[in-house]
Amino acid sequence: MNKEQVIAELNAILSLEYTAVLQYTYQSIVVRGLDMSRFLPMFQAEAAESLTHARLVGEKIVALGGIPTAEVHPIDTTTDTRRMLENDLRMETEAAKLYAQALSHAEDDVALRVMLENQVEAETASVEALKRLLA
Ligand SMILES: [Fe+2]
Repeated sequence: MNKEQVIAELNAILSLEYTAVLQYTYQSIVVRGLDMSRFLPMFQAEAAESLTHARLVGEKIVALGGIPTAEVHPIDTTTDTRRMLENDLRMETEAAKLYAQALSHAEDDVALRVMLENQVEAETASVEALKRLLA
């Protein structure tokens, strides 16, 4: 396994997970109207889940001997619920792709593979739920 490459890939994921925490938290704060009762709990739950993912990935980077990034991507501050969900779908799709990409380089590290497989599954479930919401 090319450790440096996997650490770099995990850091790209970590940055995206931090961004997800920020984006979902922001959305839970600004969501309004009738959409508030429908989506506020979802945004809060997704923010909490993303924080769990960030911790998991950050700790794996440390375990592999890397330095975890503290970088966050800028977020769209829209207050339009549909646009929020579209942004979330783009982000979750990207996360699923990055986890799968890292998985393809995990090679003989079984624990890393299992962790990344679980993450691919979790992110894909989010993608499917968001696609269903937006249908
Ligand atoms: Fe995630």
